[in-house]
Amino acid sequence: MLFKQKNKEHMKLDISSSQGSINVNSGSDVEKQIKMIRLTTYDLQVIHALQPFVVEEIDTIVARFYENLEHEPSLLTIIQDKSSIEKLKKTLKNHIVEMFSGTVDESYLEKRRKIAHIHVRIGLQTKWYMCAFQELLLSLMDVIEKNVIRKEECLLSIRAVSKIMNLEQQLVIE
Ligand code: HEM
Repeated sequence: MLFKQKNKEHMKLDISSSQGSINVNSGSDVEKQIKMIRLTTYDLQVIHALQPFVVEEIDTIVARFYENLEHEPSLLTIIQDKSSIEKLKKTLKNHIVEMFSGTVDESYLEKRRKIAHIHVRIGLQTKWYMCAFQELLLSLMDVIEKNVIRKEECLLSIRAVSKIMNLEQQLVIE
């Protein structure tokens, strides 16, 4: 793994030994969507190689996610009415870590479609959803910047993460 520490700068992101797989219904729209955003098995390997860094930073990522919602107080009211920040922090942590599992299959897609319906049910407007996604993307870019030293690996990581986040957003605005 490539850590930003003086004596480890020669080390590489461990992409070749990490797992990536796409297994979705052949001929489905989502298969075409995945092709159109050029999300590949290799991107998923890169994503999986990043997972340990995401796990390491997950508390910060999730804290920042909820802090950002304070810009629109009605969002915090929705959370208090329907759930609690503590409960949602836990589910969001699992959700983000799973995003870095390197696997996109029907069960992955189904979970996300369900989550999208939950947000429709609570009346979350798309604009706030998109703002929250952007904050998440920025946090993930910070994780990459902090941990991936080599420029080529850094760019590979940013490309891969932007694609998986784009897929997430496509699934929720469907
Ligand atoms: C539920 C993720 C944005 C409010 C959830 C769950 C996940 C999740 C994984 C748990 C679903 C389950 O119980 O199976 C996300 C992601 C977001 C996002 C990835 C955007 C990047 C937001 C925003 C709000 C919000 C902006 C602000 C109001 C809620 C609430 C629930 C929930 C209240 C619980 C609903 C219930 O249990 O009835 N979200 N969320 N979410 N989310 Fe989000």
